[in-house]
Amino acid sequence: MKSVLFVCLGNICRSPAAEGAFLNLLYQENRAHEFKVDSAGTTGHHRGEKADSRMIERAEARGIILPSIARQFEEQDFEHYDFIICMDKNNLANVKKMDSHNQFAHKIFLMSDFIKNQKKQDIPDPYYGNVKDFDLVLDLVQEGAQGLLEFIDNKLKKNE
Ligand code: 4NP
Repeated sequence: MKSVLFVCLGNICRSPAAEGAFLNLLYQENRAHEFKVDSAGTTGHHRGEKADSRMIERAEARGIILPSIARQFEEQDFEHYDFIICMDKNNLANVKKMDSHNQFAHKIFLMSDFIKNQKKQDIPDPYYGNVKDFDLVLDLVQEGAQGLLEFIDNKLKKNE
């Protein structure tokens, strides 16, 4: 079983969208049984909440269900997940800071690493934005989900 954890700040907008997009892709390819997928926030302010209703609505408009209930990223996640995918450079820095002995650097990535022409870019925070900003997040995480799945498949093929 491979495992992927998507991380953003609040765990109500971007990482739930990324989790939903990745799950959607796995369902389409009949590969959901191969993966454990979750999302988390570097803060716990929204702990226990469903994804933002605007993100749920825009995702559903393209057939993507967001199952996320917000939780905070915790140190044990480094052990429990193979791929930790951060939505922006702040999230990345905060996650790396929690890896105090730098043991898990090989597991930590930026979502944009898997999106063409977006290397090192942030998935923009839509929280104070409008419908277009939520749709842009979905465009980006859907492309990222595809790139990530290819990356994981290639990486595991090499290790065979
Ligand atoms: P997310 O978006 O990190 O994509 O979940 C945000 C959600 C909530 C807040 C900021 C960003 N907030 O300030 O409450």
